Amino acid sequence: MRSFLTVMLLLSSVRAFSSNLSIEADQQAKQAFFELNFFSEGRGMIMSPGLISMYEFFVPGMGIINQEFMQKNWGLAFDDAGRVSGLFKERYKKLNVGTVGCVVCHSGRAAGQFVIGLGNKNVDVLKMAKDLYRIEKWWDGLKPDPLQSKTYLQVEDNAINFANYLSNERLGNLTQGLVPIAFIRGWFYRVQGMDIPEMSKGQVKIPHLWGYGEKRKVGQFCDGFGDGSQLGWAVAVELAAGQTADTVRNYYDDVVQAETALEFFLPPKYPFEIDADKANYGKALFQTSCATCHGQYEKNEKGFPVYKAPRWIPWKTVQTDYDRLKSNRPAFRRVVEASPLSDIIRINIDKDGYFAPRLDGIWARFPYLHNGSVPTLWDLLQKSENRPVIFHLRDAGEEHRFDPERLGLLIDRDEHTQKNLLHQSAQGKRDLYDIRRKGHSNQGHEFFIEKFDAEQKMALIEYLKTL
Ligand code: HEC
Ligand code: HEC
Repeated sequence: MRSFLTVMLLLSSVRAFSSNLSIEADQQAKQAFFELNFFSEGRGMIMSPGLISMYEFFVPGMGIINQEFMQKNWGLAFDDAGRVSGLFKERYKKLNVGTVGCVVCHSGRAAGQFVIGLGNKNVDVLKMAKDLYRIEKWWDGLKPDPLQSKTYLQVEDNAINFANYLSNERLGNLTQGLVPIAFIRGWFYRVQGMDIPEMSKGQVKIPHLWGYGEKRKVGQFCDGFGDGSQLGWAVAVELAAGQTADTVRNYYDDVVQAETALEFFLPPKYPFEIDADKANYGKALFQTSCATCHGQYEKNEKGFPVYKAPRWIPWKTVQTDYDRLKSNRPAFRRVVEASPLSDIIRINIDKDGYFAPRLDGIWARFPYLHNGSVPTLWDLLQKSENRPVIFHLRDAGEEHRFDPERLGLLIDRDEHTQKNLLHQSAQGKRDLYDIRRKGHSNQGHEFFIEKFDAEQKMALIEYLKTL
């Protein structure tokens, strides 16, 4: 397991350091999380032995696999030192194995800043898995099997199976930056030898992780479907990638440690100027409207947020895209309850709705709503029929794509461009967000949009920058 010793050491020093939030604890916890992956006994999110050593290599039919390729096609994020976030080279029984860590999804960029704990806005699990599968097969074909050790062949098998399972178009995401929950749900059927039934993909943007310590107490994910009293759901992605119930049990203590790190995460600070008077006016408006669902935002004496649990809201009230909630049915609950990990992975309740998420660091969490269907806060404060129908996700986290006025993703609103994008989207382009795709609707959450005029909405937005 990747430098887990360092992770443990860092965490224990964090714990000893203080039970409160601080800049140092935040940095240490994020560094530990950056390094974390649960590669275990030759299983997990892995590549064939030796393949990762060939970073910047030529694959027939695909060209050079380098930073530009990974950014554009797989949506991987790079940190400020130019390191790819979430890919590691691991020594395992004298083999070099490429492994994928949590931050491949749980780190990302906003306005040009690299932020650990922010969801990656571009990662494309389906595209990555499909490409990796082709590369794995090509790599496999290059070497005669009898010359490889038994361990080599096992690890290679696991790598190919991992890529193959996530390449399933029936379960896979249609757009960059969205992760389909169907492939995680699929594990519960597979492990019990059942066929995976028809189910909604349930594509969601990757949630931010600061404040999770409090959130977990009322439930995990955007809908509260996971029972946060146990930490098993955090390994769900690894399960889909080929871990077994036994490998997970062997490292469960490490998962508990890793989740402790999340409690120290601070939200990223808004990097540009804020008009204090306008923000104060916005705050007053917020308190008498949005706060009924999204709560109050106190800061402690050091200026750090006082994290609180979010409130859960029935779907009938919020009426955003429903696709995600479709598979939360008793039949699925029974499958989870019969799984070999039923003691640590539990379902809470048959909830039919979404959390009104806490809004700490909301400036960086665009595009908005659980399915990432609304590019800016300004658009979220308009009727859904007036929100953008299509927008480009290319370089979504870079500064040239940041809109400090509407707050969120800067998009081209020109009618001609929009038409052109709609045309490209019809060919299935994966870096275009098209609200007509299944599970991508930008409906609902039309609260107070008539009550506030344009100036008041701008004041609200100014206030939200301070959270
Ligand atoms: C393939 C991308 C991906 C990877 C890799 C990944 N996650 Fe996640 N994570 C997600 C998505 C998507 C969700 C939201 C799931 C949902 O809505 O059902 C999530 C949710 C979570 C949550 C719950 C957050 C909340 O607000 O309730 C935690 C905690 C978490 N992940 C931890 C981890 C850890 C620890 C790892 C590494 C072992 C990891 N994740 C790896 C995509 C990923
Ligand atoms: C009746 C409860 C309710 C009210 C009132 C409300 N919201 Fe929300 N809000 C929600 C829920 C529920 C969600 C999650 C919906 C989803 O993701 O599908 C949400 C989502 C959001 C998000 C997106 C969060 C993210 O991570 O993408 C923002 C931003 C937001 N609300 C801002 C506001 C503002 C500003 C107001 C006041 C004008 C407001 N909300 C009023 C319930 C409410």
